[in-house]
Amino acid sequence: METKKFTTNDKIKNKVFHHEMKINKEHRSKIKKQTPCIIWFTGLSGAGKSTLADTLEQKLNKLGKHTFSLDGDNLRHTLNEDLGFSDRDRNENIRRIGHVGKLMVDAGLIVISSFISPFKEQRNNTRKLFNEKEFIQVFLNTSIDICEKRDPKGLYKKARAGLLKDFTGIDSAYEIPENSEIVLDGSHGSPDENSEIIIKYLIENDIIKHE
Ligand code: ADX
Repeated sequence: METKKFTTNDKIKNKVFHHEMKINKEHRSKIKKQTPCIIWFTGLSGAGKSTLADTLEQKLNKLGKHTFSLDGDNLRHTLNEDLGFSDRDRNENIRRIGHVGKLMVDAGLIVISSFISPFKEQRNNTRKLFNEKEFIQVFLNTSIDICEKRDPKGLYKKARAGLLKDFTGIDSAYEIPENSEIVLDGSHGSPDENSEIIIKYLIENDIIKHE
């Protein structure tokens, strides 16, 4: 039964008002000398999102960029520890991360997020939180066969044995994104090659400068 509501109800919305602060994203990012954005990885479990995020963050750090990495496996131990893997909980997981990511972009950071984020509608709702060009969706396209062969946490094996319910790609959907800024081959491309493709995109789109 899915009755509990997570979102702010209308009563609160009508009596709590937004306070505009004098210092905004532009002021903060100017100090950082960088253009904030969120690089939103999506792909199956085992696609290599966290590994690629880690490689990319190291490269950006070397370029002197202030980054932050939001990772599904990590955040599910803290902020989102109350959530499971039903469609509703996954939507709530992504809704919260979208807002955390937005706060971080407002703080002037280059944010890297690694969540399966399997549903088109929720990914698109997240995109709407950001300005155009700020939200860079990267689909790490790794076939389920390869993810299952890798199975670094043994979860596919458990799901196939019926010990894990609602597993993405097995008995829970992954809706292939059609509007990604970048599509990467996670089956063959190495994290180093793929992170270079992202860096090239960031340079071409004036988010970082060629050094
Ligand atoms: S999402 O669907 O809500 O975006 P998220 O990225 O936070 O998922 O978490 C996915 C991680 O949780 C996977 O990498 C995997 O390690 C673990 N996990 C545990 N159970 C499941 C499940 N039923 N489906 C997918 N991933 C699961």
